[in-house]
Amino acid sequence: MLVSTAGLQHGYRRGPHAVEVLRGVDLEVDAGEFVAIMGPSGSGKSTLLHILGCLVRPLAGSYLLAGTDVLSLPEKELAAIRASRIGFVFQMFHLLPALDVLRNVSLPFLYNGIAPDRARRLALAAIGRVGLAHRVDHRPCELSGGEMQRAAIARALAVEPELILADEPTGNLDAASSGEILELFARLHRSGRTIIMVTHDPAVAAMAQRILRLEDGRLA
Ligand SMILES: Nc1ncnc2c1ncn2[C@@H]1O[C@H](COP(=O)(O)OP(=O)(O)OP(=O)(O)O)[C@@H](O)[C@H]1O
Ligand SMILES: [Mg+2]
Repeated sequence: MLVSTAGLQHGYRRGPHAVEVLRGVDLEVDAGEFVAIMGPSGSGKSTLLHILGCLVRPLAGSYLLAGTDVLSLPEKELAAIRASRIGFVFQMFHLLPALDVLRNVSLPFLYNGIAPDRARRLALAAIGRVGLAHRVDHRPCELSGGEMQRAAIARALAVEPELILADEPTGNLDAASSGEILELFARLHRSGRTIIMVTHDPAVAAMAQRILRLEDGRLA
């Protein structure tokens, strides 16, 4: 079991209002599985993915990642796990605005202690795979929405992490680029990577081995 959560709860406090989002999420995903998560807007899909990516600590519940109780780890160890084992494609991309595409995609390699020359070569290869070779020296503000998305995907998948978390990875893409990106995910899945993908698109979800629905704060 790569991912195993029990009773995950999370919510947000906004002034006097408390928003309960996750009310006991139990999720088990085997290594090598491809799982799609669907559910209405605002149901907590991104919140759940942030918890699985060790970016947010849930208010309650347990989370074992490859048998490790990640919620008990100090921030420094969590950061190392995030950098080496998890690839995160964010709904809002989260590219660093001051850095061009090549530097954005090189970052995960540098975090993992790979020498700059080698990081550059690996990043260029990853950028080529998402069809952005002609935009390596563009900053995010000089890219279209779909190009930003492809840069973010190159960055998340470049280190070929064992767990890939993707939040609407094809949401801003035309049919052709969307097909290429899905082929990239399919290739990673065939090579044994575990993928948990949030999508609104039933055709995209159909690529997964299992489709889970987040409703009323729980997975069904
Ligand atoms: N930082 C925050 N502060 C307060 N409320 C938040 C915060 N982040 C999310 N929420 C609320 O939590 C709920 C779930 O948000 P989340 O982003 O997880 O939903 P989602 O399922 O990913 O939706 P979408 O399909 O629109 O992306 C929403 O109602 C949202 O308003
Ligand atoms: Mg979302």
